[in-house]
Amino acid sequence: MIEPVVDTYVNRAWIDQALRADVAEGLVSQPKELPPKWFYDDRGSELFDQITRLPDYYPTRREREILEREIDVIAERSGADTVVELGSGTSEKTRIVLNALAATGRLRRYVPFDNSEATLRNAAAELAEAYEGLAVHGVVGDFEHHLGHIPDGGCRLIMLLGGTIGNFPPAPRKDFLAAVANTMAPGDTFLLGFDLVKDLDRLIAAYDDPEGVTAAFNRNVLSVVNNRLDADFDLEQFEHEARFDLEEEWIEMWLRSRCDQQVTIGGLGMTVDFAHGERMRTEISAKFRPENIGPELAGVGLAMERLWTDARGDYALTMSRMVARR
Ligand code: SAH
Ligand code: TRP
Repeated sequence: MIEPVVDTYVNRAWIDQALRADVAEGLVSQPKELPPKWFYDDRGSELFDQITRLPDYYPTRREREILEREIDVIAERSGADTVVELGSGTSEKTRIVLNALAATGRLRRYVPFDNSEATLRNAAAELAEAYEGLAVHGVVGDFEHHLGHIPDGGCRLIMLLGGTIGNFPPAPRKDFLAAVANTMAPGDTFLLGFDLVKDLDRLIAAYDDPEGVTAAFNRNVLSVVNNRLDADFDLEQFEHEARFDLEEEWIEMWLRSRCDQQVTIGGLGMTVDFAHGERMRTEISAKFRPENIGPELAGVGLAMERLWTDARGDYALTMSRMVARR
């Protein structure tokens, strides 16, 4: 087995500084807002893993269905020896890809990239162990800041799975896609998963399960702020709410204050008032229409070569390539 290497750009100091800035800004904006990247501490990653197994949370299952069905085409067309995975989490679906590339005899390297260090280290260790001869080079980074630190070399298949692209608002989404395109060398390919617009009931059910796992995940962002910035959010006093914005076609995740309350953020020397019923936004999850995806990728210089959906048409996986730069 080759020992995994892990480069860390998101460390304690970086988190403290970035979280501080996000919280200071988000809690004085109208409505209040916290960015979703802070959901994923150890507990948050564990809760997300549980979400992917919920009966009503279809995206993970649909994406796996497409990957399993199309993986030979993906492996063949990519010609890749290196897999770079952005927001890799527990790297579970990754095994489908690694297996297919290993079968072609080309697989050399896996680069998981995630801002959740413990989750990334676990996944890196497990995959290095499972795939003899695979060089695992992890990057603990924020994909809005550290894409430039992805090791280069090899013919790369870059992946962003799980519908994570939908968690960016439109303008940051474009910036992010442009930055990804910018890291790509000629010959590299990009595999990107999108959740699709569908029936309202099924959309809401995916983000508001009866067991309350999603609610616990949503509230977990408050305990991240409590732990990191010495705040005193009472998690019991915030209620999970998922709604679908029909105009924007995105799911919104909110935390609604159950009473009039004041929260102190010791690390920022700041107190914040929440009115009874006041809502703070924690996440959006955009849902896409297949016909808009190609043009969106083209807008950042990526030529979409394939778009596959699952049998029910719930979810789409795309494969694209950078148009040669002049
Ligand atoms: N790819 C997995 C996990 C998706 S959940 C799947 O398909 O199931 C989103 C993942 O992205 C989490 O592991 C989270 O830690 C990571 N993440 C969220 N925001 C990030 C950011 N700004 N930079 C890097 N990773 C981020
Ligand atoms: N990328 C996932 C999605 O948009 C993230 C997610 C799933 C999520 N369930 C959630 C984020 C609940 C916040 C709350 O589907």
